[in-house]
Amino acid sequence: VQSDLAATLTRFAERGADGFYQGETAARIAAHMQRDGGFIVEDDLKAYAPVERAPVRTVYRGHEVISMGPPSSGGVAMIQMLNMLSAYDVAEFGFGSSDYIHLLTEVMRRAYADRGRWLGDPDFYGVPVEGLISEAYARERGRTVDLERVSELGPGVPPGAPESDDTTHFSIIDRDGNAVSCTTTINSTFGSCCVADGCGFFLNNEMDDFSAKPGVPNQFGLIGGKANAIAPGKRMLSSMTPTIVCKDGELRYVIGAPGGGRIITAVMQVLLNLVDHEMSLKRAVEAPRVHHQWLPDHIQWEALALPADVRRALAAKGHRFRAQPRGIALVFAAELQPDGTRVGVADGRSGGAAAAY
Ligand code: DON
Repeated sequence: VQSDLAATLTRFAERGADGFYQGETAARIAAHMQRDGGFIVEDDLKAYAPVERAPVRTVYRGHEVISMGPPSSGGVAMIQMLNMLSAYDVAEFGFGSSDYIHLLTEVMRRAYADRGRWLGDPDFYGVPVEGLISEAYARERGRTVDLERVSELGPGVPPGAPESDDTTHFSIIDRDGNAVSCTTTINSTFGSCCVADGCGFFLNNEMDDFSAKPGVPNQFGLIGGKANAIAPGKRMLSSMTPTIVCKDGELRYVIGAPGGGRIITAVMQVLLNLVDHEMSLKRAVEAPRVHHQWLPDHIQWEALALPADVRRALAAKGHRFRAQPRGIALVFAAELQPDGTRVGVADGRSGGAAAAY
């Protein structure tokens, strides 16, 4: 006979939710918490209220699927996976075949990487739900699935993702052809994590851009020596690369990026893509990038930058590798075409945007 449970259910039956979140049951929970070092007190229980929220939906092969949105990740992740899978003839793969399991796990890996990065209580974090469950995002995220091999991957960047908390770049061209390339930084996410007393902004952690000791890497793995040692009044070494490019005396491109030590090589590769590889601005920014910074002595590479046979050929020359699933810098660029057309591109690796006024 479960007499304690019976008494709890009786209080519930007699007083509804108040019979649980207040009164004897609440008092017993709070007392238990206090005894065992927990934190929940009676007022927490009293303040608890369920929240009714809109479900998330998609259409999967003609079936309307309606499920739970944040703070569950369930509906969002399932819809994201279904949306990616709808590009495939799943039945054709055959239940249980190795191709089927490979496809499923590749789609699952992508959704769970995004779950880890973007999902949480929407009352506290701007979860980009609509972006995550959009068909356009599923198409983009699913495009990197390789049916032959496991991909290197990290979280994607869905439309509507909150902007980053550390470094920002603006590339601007106005109607008169004036250009601004502006990178601004508090160094890493939330800077020093201290809000200046009563001021409402974060203090930076720019000291990490100095070399603290010869040969000791900073957060970006960069090393330095005396030239960048800390001294009173001295400014720390930056990797910011806000850049303006002209041709025949006329403005052509405005380029820059956040990305710590990888900013420099990212901006340069976009420039090479434009000038040498004759890509459009969009392609130049989106093309997969590599990075090498002397030490650590390996090629950092983004998914799709180095197919397996290229890695083998480079390894034969003595190169080592480290995948960068979260991408190499975020480039924001603007172009003034010779006929006066202005083009703006926000890196697809980021939540930024291009805009015209
Ligand atoms: O000035 C620098 O090189 C660094 N403070 C930039 C940091 C940065 O880009 C962080 N962002 N991703």
